[in-house]
Amino acid sequence: MAGGDAKGRGTWASGIGFILAAAGSAVGLGNIWRFPYITAENGGGAFVLLYLGCIALVGLPIMIAEIMIGRSTQKSTVSAFRQLAGKKSPWVSLGWIGVLCGYLILSFYAVVAGWALHYVVRSVTGALAGKSADQLQAAFTQLSTDGGQSILALVVFMALTMAMVMGGVEKGLERWARILMPALLLMLVGLLVYSFTLSGFGEAFRFVFGFHAHDLTGAGVLEALGHSFFTLSLGMGAMLTYGSYLRRDTDIVGNSIAIAVLDTVIALLACLVIFPITFTAGIETAQGPGLVFISLPIAFSKMAGGSILATVFFALLSFAALTSTISMLEVATSYFIDERGWSRHKATLVSGSAITLLGIPSALTGATVFFGSGMKERFGRDWFSLVSDFSSNILLPLGGFGIALFVAWKVGDRLRHDEFLAGSSFGKFYRLWLGVLRFFVPIAVALVFLKAIGINIF
Ligand code: PHE
Repeated sequence: MAGGDAKGRGTWASGIGFILAAAGSAVGLGNIWRFPYITAENGGGAFVLLYLGCIALVGLPIMIAEIMIGRSTQKSTVSAFRQLAGKKSPWVSLGWIGVLCGYLILSFYAVVAGWALHYVVRSVTGALAGKSADQLQAAFTQLSTDGGQSILALVVFMALTMAMVMGGVEKGLERWARILMPALLLMLVGLLVYSFTLSGFGEAFRFVFGFHAHDLTGAGVLEALGHSFFTLSLGMGAMLTYGSYLRRDTDIVGNSIAIAVLDTVIALLACLVIFPITFTAGIETAQGPGLVFISLPIAFSKMAGGSILATVFFALLSFAALTSTISMLEVATSYFIDERGWSRHKATLVSGSAITLLGIPSALTGATVFFGSGMKERFGRDWFSLVSDFSSNILLPLGGFGIALFVAWKVGDRLRHDEFLAGSSFGKFYRLWLGVLRFFVPIAVALVFLKAIGINIF
C-alpha cells in the first residue's frame, strides 16, 4: 500500500510498520541501560512487579490518550492542541512542553547513545579485551572526561538520526524501524540464549522475579512510576506525533497494548541478559549508571568470546537508542513542518543541529571545563543532570498529567469514544479506561511530580 495522505504529511505504509516504529521509540536506553540499574538499586522482584502495575494502570491509559490526539487531528503536537482546544488556549502549552522536551531529552540522550556507539568500536577493535577491572573503570571515566571523544560520538549519533528522519515517515521512520527492531530482537535473543547457559542465570532469575517486599520503599514506587513515562516515550508528544501518521481505521487500543507489552518484555529480557553475566562474574550490580558501561565490560573481559559478546551487546544498545532518538527528533521536526511550513529537509537540519549544539555541554559533563565539573563545582550540579532531571522528572510527568486531563475532561465524549472504538475489539473497556484516566492517573502522576519538585508524600 502506498503511504501519503491528502496533505502530503505521510502515513505508515502498514500496521506492523507503526507498531515497530512506536515500539522502537519506546524501547531504548530506558529499557537496556536504565531499567536494569534502577531494578538493581531497588532490590529487584517487588520493584519489577510494581513497575508492571505502573505500565498497565498509568502508562497504557496515557498512551491510548496520546495516540488518540494525534490520530484525530492528523497534526504534530503544537498544531494538534491548537486544533482541539483553540488557537490561544492554555492547553497548547502541552504542545510546547513536547517540543521543548524533544530538544532537551535528545540533547543528553544522544550523548549516552554516542557512548554506546563508541563502545561498539572499542569492542570490535578489542580495546576492552584483557583489561583489569580498574582499567575498564578508567576507560569509561576517560570517555566521559575526554570532551573531544564524547563530542565526536554525539555528532556521529546525531548525524545518523538526522539522516533517518530526513527520509520521512515511510522511507525514514518506518523503514529503519523495520530493519533495526528485528535486528535488535535477534541480538537480544542470541544474548539471552548465552546468558541462559551461565551458572548465574538462576540467581539472576530469582533476583528479577522473586518477590522481596522488604526492599520496596516509597521512593521506589515513585521511581517505577516516573520510569514508566520515560520508557513508553509518554508526555512529550512522541506517541502523539507517531499517531498522527495513522490511518483512521487503526485499532489504537490494541496497538497500544502491543507496544507496551513489547517494551516491557524487552526491559525484562535485558535484565535476564545482564544480571546472569554480572552475577556469574561475581560483580557488584548496584552501581547505578555504570552498570552497562563498567560492570558489563568487566564481566565480558573475564569470558571466552567476550569481545564478540560485547560487540553484540553494544550494537543492540545503539540500535535501541537510534529508534528512540529518531522519534524525539521527529517531534521537533514535525513542529516546523506543520506550523512553519518548512520542508522536512530544512526542519530536520535546523532542529538536529541545534540539538547537537545543546548536547555539547552534556558531552563535556565529566570534563573540567565550565559546563563540566567546573559547573558542578560552582553550582553544585552539572549540566547533564540538570537537563536530564528537569526534562525527564519534571517536564515528562507534567506533559503526561496534562494529556490525561485534556483527554479525560476537555475533549468531547464523541471524539474520544469514536477514536477508542475505531477498528477496535476493546470497546467494552471504554468506561474503565476513561475512569482510570479521569481519577487514578492524575493522582498517581501528581505524586511523582510533587516528589520531583521536592515535596514527598510518602
Ligand atoms: N522511551 C525511550 C527509552 O526508553 C526514551 C524516550 C523518551 C523516547 C521520550 C522518546 C520520547 O529509552
